[in-house]
Amino acid sequence: MTTSSDSQPLHVFDLPQLYTKPTAADILRALEQLAVRPRNFGDDENAQLIVLQTGVSQYLTSIIASALSWIDSDEMREAIWDAASARLCERSGRAAMPAISRVFTIPMTSQTDFTLTLYEPSLTSDNLGMKTWVSSYLLAKRLHALLLPPAPSSLVPSRYKDNRPLRALELGAGTGLVGLSFAALWGSAASIHLTDLDTIVPNLAHNVGLNDELLSKTGASVLTGVLDWSAETDDRPEPADEEKCDVILAADPLYSPDHPAWLVQTIRRRLYRDTESRVVVEMPLRDAYLPQVEEFRRRMGEAGLVVVEEGEETGYDDWEGKNGEAVEVRCWWAVWRWRCN
Ligand SMILES: C[S@@+](CC[C@H](N)C(=O)[O-])C[C@H]1O[C@@H](n2cnc3c(N)ncnc32)[C@H](O)[C@@H]1O
Repeated sequence: MTTSSDSQPLHVFDLPQLYTKPTAADILRALEQLAVRPRNFGDDENAQLIVLQTGVSQYLTSIIASALSWIDSDEMREAIWDAASARLCERSGRAAMPAISRVFTIPMTSQTDFTLTLYEPSLTSDNLGMKTWVSSYLLAKRLHALLLPPAPSSLVPSRYKDNRPLRALELGAGTGLVGLSFAALWGSAASIHLTDLDTIVPNLAHNVGLNDELLSKTGASVLTGVLDWSAETDDRPEPADEEKCDVILAADPLYSPDHPAWLVQTIRRRLYRDTESRVVVEMPLRDAYLPQVEEFRRRMGEAGLVVVEEGEETGYDDWEGKNGEAVEVRCWWAVWRWRCN
């Protein structure tokens, strides 16, 4: 059988065929190779065996339909049927994929990298925040190098200014990768509020708990809560200065025609009016959403914000193209501040 160390793609004919009455261990090993694991956004370290998909669904169905009569153990037969069913579900699209936990490694300057574990429940179409998207991974990796107020160089308790912690806010946090990375980088010098819609916040809070050990070690203060951008209208009282934030983060926030206006109105109301305040965004430049990216830029300018630094970079979606290849995505990142008059 082809193994993951071979560079050749795995073909269905390389798998143990049922007419040869393969052992339970061989079948389980093959089913393990067929697992559809999300690519970690194209990282080499997570490169996986390429499986040619032709015939794989029939192969799995034949296992589920077989009585596996040559295998003595009921337990083994159950394990094989369960694994084959799981592999079939994974091939029915991301929405049918079982829940997964993923580990992300994020770099820090002058200190060791840290890892975050994030839980991603099975996706439903209107719950895009249940999965981690490529631009949030790129932004999390870039955070330590951006022109932000300087992060503390050690993990001893320190303060931002006026002897208070820096206040950060993440909009549309999803699974929390960007905000949790920020929290780990800033430690006790910042407090961060990770926000999203009410359907997303329970999983977000769960992910904060999963990383409790790291967050406690760095002294980070992390809160989660609901913040719906559509409700941030000017007829509501503006938040007091003490409730406004020094840094606002958002990754992949634009996918409906309303989003640019809603997002900018939220930023305008929530960003503290100070020359050192920053907005940090990263978003994919997918053709269908380019007008929204342009509208976001225009509205940010109209709201009195200017770009301090920006750039483009390439990431990879964590699903595969037709032939198991990585799918490239161009992403735009930018840091904004209030225009000085
Ligand atoms: C494509 S996901 C990105 C999630 C995460 N930032 C990431 O990149 O992995 C967009 C996020 O925006 C959130 N969102 C959409 N509309 C929103 C609104 N009106 N108010 C607050 N969050 C919203 C979604 O719930 C979702 O978590």
